[in-house]
Amino acid sequence: MISVAIVGATGVVGEMFLKVLEEKKLNIDKYTLFASSKSKGKIVNFMNNKYEVQELTEDSFKNEHFDYALFSAGGSTSQKYAKIAAQNGCIVIDNSSFFRMDKTVPLIVPQVNMEDAYEHFNIIANPNCSTIQAVLPLKALDEKYKIKRVIYSTYQAVSGAGKKGIDDLIENKVEKFPYPINNNCIPQIDVFTDNDYTKEEIKMIEETRKILKKPKLPITATCVRVPVLNSHAESINVELEYPFKIEDIKKYLNNFLGIIVLDDPEKLIYPLNSFANGTDEVYVGRIRRDYSQENGINFWCVADNIRKGAASNAVEILENLIKKDLE
Ligand code: A2P
Repeated sequence: MISVAIVGATGVVGEMFLKVLEEKKLNIDKYTLFASSKSKGKIVNFMNNKYEVQELTEDSFKNEHFDYALFSAGGSTSQKYAKIAAQNGCIVIDNSSFFRMDKTVPLIVPQVNMEDAYEHFNIIANPNCSTIQAVLPLKALDEKYKIKRVIYSTYQAVSGAGKKGIDDLIENKVEKFPYPINNNCIPQIDVFTDNDYTKEEIKMIEETRKILKKPKLPITATCVRVPVLNSHAESINVELEYPFKIEDIKKYLNNFLGIIVLDDPEKLIYPLNSFANGTDEVYVGRIRRDYSQENGINFWCVADNIRKGAASNAVEILENLIKKDLE
């Protein structure tokens, strides 16, 4: 019997965990939904049943055994409760940034490095949403042409900032973001660090290196919040080691599991947020040579940040772990 806890079940990503689990119909016998005291007793429709949301407490993972837990309730909740869960024999897949750079915690995108997930100490981290969608095409390019340098410029949707981020856009409030997101592109995601990069930019840089197992890969990033409800877009510039033909790269990217190439400038075909919404694929287009350098390439990459960038990626990890366990 497999028992799974969902922590943060009332949040934007938590609700998507439930939706993706309903779609995937994994071999799971029992679910328990947790959130803060605010949501205690709330009734949630899930898997054709009514589930009562439980308040997450220090005893939640001591009083009952869970085989797996999906966490998306913020870093401080993960810091405290994911550790308790792990100590009590539960395998945690954590969507917060808290454990991502911990050397003992695998950081996983199943299409890229699922093999690393099995070497865990009961905690596996789900990468940052912007990192997840970027590393699929980067891995594809690296396999064939070896990546030498990456420049990220992101255009990130408000849903990445949770329910409060969505409210700022829809209700024209200034509560989650430092400025009105309506009619503005805000070049700040998360707080600033000592070197004037934002934490989001540092996350993208460090997580990409960890997932691709290239600790010294030169990467720079500028992360921008844009007034779009859902799906992140990224302009990615890459310098490759080996020469390439653009047509080969398009074919190769399209054949990589999880990527769909949408690229026909004559017909004005390129990835848009609205194409990605509600799907688990990473869309890549505007693939073209960067003539300013040798073996340089530019492309545009879009994915649903709440699905592939968070919930679906975590559930895919869970799906693979369960499959392996049943082998
Ligand atoms: P709640 O709705 O009860 O506050 P979002 O990022 O969309 O705002 O969602 C955050 C999720 O994390 C929500 O489900 C929220 O529950 C949950 N959460 C926040 N703090 C805690 C906590 N201390 N313990 C458990 N769940 C928490």
